[in-house]
Amino acid sequence: MKIWLPLDSAAVALGADEIATALVAEAARRGVTLDLVRNGSRGMIWLEPLAEVEVNGVRHGFGAMTLDDVAGLFGDLAAHPKALGPVDELPWMKAQTRLTFARCGVIDPLSIADYRAHGGFEGLERAKTMSKPELVAEVTDSGLRGRGGAGFPTGIKWKTVSEAPGEKKYIVCNADEGDSATFADRMIMEGDPFVLIEGMAIAGLACGATQGYVYIRSEYPIAIKVMRKAVEIARSVGVLGSQFDMEIRVGAGAYVCGEETSLLNSLEGKRGVVRAKPPLPALQGFMGRPTVVNNVISLASVPVILAKGAAFYKGFGLGRSRGTIPLQIAGNVKHGGLYEIAFGLTLGEIVDGIAGGTASGRPVKAVQVGGPLGAYFPRALFDTPFGYEEFAGKDGLIGHAGLTIFDDTADMLGMARFAMEFCAIESCGKCTPCRIGSTRGVETLDRLAQGDASAMPVLTDLCNTMKLGSLCALGGFTPYPVMSAVTHFPDDFARAKEAAE
Ligand code: NAI
Ligand code: SF4
Repeated sequence: MKIWLPLDSAAVALGADEIATALVAEAARRGVTLDLVRNGSRGMIWLEPLAEVEVNGVRHGFGAMTLDDVAGLFGDLAAHPKALGPVDELPWMKAQTRLTFARCGVIDPLSIADYRAHGGFEGLERAKTMSKPELVAEVTDSGLRGRGGAGFPTGIKWKTVSEAPGEKKYIVCNADEGDSATFADRMIMEGDPFVLIEGMAIAGLACGATQGYVYIRSEYPIAIKVMRKAVEIARSVGVLGSQFDMEIRVGAGAYVCGEETSLLNSLEGKRGVVRAKPPLPALQGFMGRPTVVNNVISLASVPVILAKGAAFYKGFGLGRSRGTIPLQIAGNVKHGGLYEIAFGLTLGEIVDGIAGGTASGRPVKAVQVGGPLGAYFPRALFDTPFGYEEFAGKDGLIGHAGLTIFDDTADMLGMARFAMEFCAIESCGKCTPCRIGSTRGVETLDRLAQGDASAMPVLTDLCNTMKLGSLCALGGFTPYPVMSAVTHFPDDFARAKEAAE
């Protein structure tokens, strides 16, 4: 009997390990030979832990599993109270365009044979037949842009590093996924680690780099363990070695270490403070050498681009946002999880359709897109298509594609204060607008909460100073959530004034 049960952190947090132990015990009690595969998550977090049982070659889902549901998996499956039917036929799975996450949840994450059997290393094999300029051109032509949030064209970044003078170059993968509501990096590292290794090896070939590092946040112990094991396996079969090798490094939990220059400082063993740019890391990065710093999803999207060609990938998307994006849907939401789709769906289609509205059943009031530095979007802007330029045109950003949904009980003045407080706590302290501005911002929002309307021009002025004068995105983007709350939810700010009067 073959059963899949995720080792993914979300599933484990919901009891997957205890269910795995119970499955093994139940199989032993019944004398059943059990082949239990700990896979990645399919992304339907509300159904985790999701067990899958093979029936006539088709994987049937059962979730959300509890210990009481274990024995039933050994009986009449059709009568099981948590039976969902064939997993690939579930609407959530069927309507997606899974390019980057094609194998996540499907394969055994640490079986290199399973990885190969599902198209793994086809991109690397093709890459080995191409020259550096050809590889750079392929990634440029695909239209892939930095999935960490900034959306800078990946091919252009690689070109800068590839053409930079210097014997020693590096590929650094930013896996310090700190944005609220984001978990795509973690999910792919836990569910399909070889795709990241393959993407980094291809980046190494394109840029002439022989060494890579994955910088993973310490809050991701399972991803760290899986990636370390996957690197060992890849080395043992010669995928990694003298031509390109890599190491897993663990961060210490500072949000700002997701900013590429802080990350490089931390990787070098220094304090994680932001460096001034220029020089760009592409020219003077890790140890002062030319360095590609790419997000996990950017690198994990490269194998499919090489395997299927730039034109295939570019065929998906909208405007200058090409290919697919793994949406991460969280907050007060009915169906939270990861959903990979071509760019272009409207925010309303995502929130009302895919996510099914709020978990509380109350109307959606706001959606914060792009993590703690992203703007709050009201229902009036739900016709905004999901794309870099489209969101920028509405004074927002898609960032790492995390969406946090709030119902009509949310207090947007409180959320604006939270944004400023977050910035004050996480500021690296290097520049004044962020270090001092964020603390003054909290105080100014407290004045507004007490009904002091004269604080509003001060807040606007402060946000402009932070936006224009901060050294990095933490201070520079905090005004997005704050000012979007002020602009789109003026009643929440007026109510405080009325209450004071
Ligand atoms: P940025 O716009 O300064 O840089 C984008 C990237 O392009 C950098 O890697 C930069 O070095 C590179 N670059 C620029 N010009 C280049 C050139 N000519 N050649 C080669 N490379 C070049 O943006 P930044 O500060 O790196 O990122 C800000 C974004 O990070 C925000 O949009 C935010 O959404 C996102 N973010 C993501 C988080 C996460 O958890 N994934 C957390 C916090 C912020
Ligand atoms: Fe540091 Fe904030 Fe300045 Fe960024 S904006 S360099 S986090 S003080």
